[in-house]
Amino acid sequence: MESEQTSVAVIMVGGPTKGTRFRPLSLNVAKPLFPLAGQAMVQHPILACKKIPNLVHIYLIGFYEEREFALYVSSISNELKIPVRYLREDKPHGSAGGLYHFRELIMEDDPTNIFVLNCDVCCSFPLADMLEAHNKYGGMGTILVIKVSAESANQFGELVADSVTKELLHYAEKPETFVSDRINCGVYIFTPDIFLAIQDVSTQRKDRATMRRVSSFEALQSATKTLPTDFVRLDQDILSPLAGKKKLYTFETSEFWEQIKTPGMSLRCSELYLSQYQRTSPELLAKGDGGRTATIVGNVYIHPSAKVHPTAKIGPNVSVSANARIGAGVRLIGCIVLDDVEIKENSIVMHSIVGWKSSIGRWSRVQGEGNYSSKLGIAILGEGVTVEDEVVVVNCIVLPHKTLNVSVQEEIIL
Ligand code: GDD
Repeated sequence: MESEQTSVAVIMVGGPTKGTRFRPLSLNVAKPLFPLAGQAMVQHPILACKKIPNLVHIYLIGFYEEREFALYVSSISNELKIPVRYLREDKPHGSAGGLYHFRELIMEDDPTNIFVLNCDVCCSFPLADMLEAHNKYGGMGTILVIKVSAESANQFGELVADSVTKELLHYAEKPETFVSDRINCGVYIFTPDIFLAIQDVSTQRKDRATMRRVSSFEALQSATKTLPTDFVRLDQDILSPLAGKKKLYTFETSEFWEQIKTPGMSLRCSELYLSQYQRTSPELLAKGDGGRTATIVGNVYIHPSAKVHPTAKIGPNVSVSANARIGAGVRLIGCIVLDDVEIKENSIVMHSIVGWKSSIGRWSRVQGEGNYSSKLGIAILGEGVTVEDEVVVVNCIVLPHKTLNVSVQEEIIL
């Protein structure tokens, strides 16, 4: 029966207003296209979807301008030989509202399963295993779940599942008091009935809005609290009310999972994906070859067009993008070096993101302490930043097109 199933995948990419925590990197590129381990953030879930049996379409739904994704979706469609389409919402409809907005298109292929993935999560996306579990449960939806520390759980959707049947019994989105250390990973499989569930919420909202119009006093009081009727969130509005109704089930992963909201976390996730390449795509990892190329330590990605001096030492956890030039004696550790960057002789870059077309002078140092979850725990250079010779930059965020000719520490340079 499984071989007759068809699937479509939807990746929720959000939009520019949601990307503010990702500044200054989101000033240059839509967050989903920012490279982690040398591949666009969204490419990691796309490649995982490509492995779903009988997958007919991948949709990216968001409210970025079409032109920001046009080139990317056409090249990835050609490369993977599977149609990848960007669907633009005219305004944010929420994670479930966005899906519902394009229901007719999504249903054109008459899919049995609709995979829904948040773009801003980093994990191994165990979609085939999830699908097997989903078929066994026979519910309307299956949610990927992971155990996190009790202290960090309240940043996510916390949930309780039946230990035997795996049914979702209780769901609380970012609760103030502790509910559970099992959280929603933002990766789901639904049957097309999900659209009926979203429609129900939307209809209830419309009914309430009509009732409110009857009493203008109440309308005045609650106008600011009311969400638009077509704005529906998958977590609060759908998962919460459907918990305990034998419709939703959970699949727990024991592999890696992180959320990518900040530049610091993009460094951490780049590291996780580099380590995943050891199993999935070892050909993407750089290898030092006996003196003719740079010394490579641990997991490193180097774009084929980058020029790296043989006396440079690179790694672990470094990714170097297209046309970067890495000079003699340079040392790179735990960093993302973006397109067209030049790093001159004998400089050191550690726990940092070096923005497009930036230039780091001779005997300079750009470094963060490597605390990915604190705002100034890494160093970030925006696009086109120049760090002059012998300048030291520690735990700083530098906005695009600045020139640093004196050393700086723990500063945001505007
Ligand atoms: N297309 C579109 N339209 N996408 C949206 C919209 C929208 O209006 N709003 C949010 N998204 C996308 C975001 O880009 C993200 O990929 C996903 O939907 C969820 O974003 P948020 O609604 O901002 O929630 P969150 O990221 O704080 O938390 C959600 O994900 C966590 C896992 O990462 C919740 O579902 C949590 O329960 C969950 O733990």
